[in-house]
Amino acid sequence: MIKLFSTPRSVIDLSNYDNLLHGSPVRQFEERVADYVGARYACSFNSASSAIFLIMRMMVENWPHLAKEEIEIPATIPPVVPNMILNAGIPIRLIDNYEWIGGSYLLANFLSFGVIDSAQAISKRVFGDAEPDDLMIFSFYPTKPVGGIDGGMVVSNDRDKIEHLRTMSMNGASSSTDSWERTPQILGWKMYMNSVQAQVANESLTLLDDKITKLDRTRRQFDRAFDQASIRHPAIPRSTAGGHHLYRIYVANNHHFVQQAQEAEIICGIHYHSLHRHPLYGRYATNSNGYGPSSYEHRHTASIPFHAGLTDIETQKVIDFTIGYQERHGPPPTRDDWYT
Ligand SMILES: Cc1ncc(COP(=O)(O)O)c(C=O)c1O
Repeated sequence: MIKLFSTPRSVIDLSNYDNLLHGSPVRQFEERVADYVGARYACSFNSASSAIFLIMRMMVENWPHLAKEEIEIPATIPPVVPNMILNAGIPIRLIDNYEWIGGSYLLANFLSFGVIDSAQAISKRVFGDAEPDDLMIFSFYPTKPVGGIDGGMVVSNDRDKIEHLRTMSMNGASSSTDSWERTPQILGWKMYMNSVQAQVANESLTLLDDKITKLDRTRRQFDRAFDQASIRHPAIPRSTAGGHHLYRIYVANNHHFVQQAQEAEIICGIHYHSLHRHPLYGRYATNSNGYGPSSYEHRHTASIPFHAGLTDIETQKVIDFTIGYQERHGPPPTRDDWYT
């Protein structure tokens, strides 16, 4: 079976830990990520979802009027994103934006700073493109470019915001490696990253540059074969230095493609279904917006296996299957045909 993503491998010896939860691996990982992306400060969480939730809570607690102002988010997005914003008490509005998929996007623009959701993309010095006070979020979900056992990080040059988020994530207590020294300051949440999560993600970060080299090569192999066979695939998101999370293509019918691929022992996926039609989220869509581009992605996008563990033989098998599928079932409609 050819997997869609490869997951991290790690051997963990818990006897070496100074603290299983708040040990030195956490601080080391935060410093390494901050250094890698070019930011001064970083705070880690048990997931990027938690980071989004706490950022939104921090905002509504300080500026209650935000509870009435909608945040616009792409309709083609994993449901965790709207869930966290809504659960934090901020309304949302779904907008057509699929170009971000596999990269990053501006999740919120508050008065003096932005929140950039870069859960799917991490690259050297990427924070240099942001404003110093911005918050930039990364994810260490197992399938992400730096895969871990879940985990998230927020970086910024604004120390106060980072330290406030840290306090919120540690049950509202001041941070200290000695749990007896921690004193409650606010009513917080238990959403910090633990030492094991930090160690696994840190090992993935060490492998990232090699992984990127390998993925760039695989992407070129796919691009060449698919361009020759007129298989359409979206451009790499402008926000990423290369697109190292997903390789998407357009097919006549994505559910059918995924099912047929599985029968050929190739795991494929759909990134993403559009939420504007979903019973839970449809109420956050506007009537005036037809969501044509999002509907197109909903029906025609498919992600093929894209990870550093792919052999040349596996890559060729994926290419042959994809070309064969288009020959049997025809190409997807063009966007122009589809909208008219
Ligand atoms: C764009 C985006 N934001 C946020 C998240 C949430 O990340 P996590 O799984 O670390 O909670 C994801 C996860 O898929 C994501 O793709």
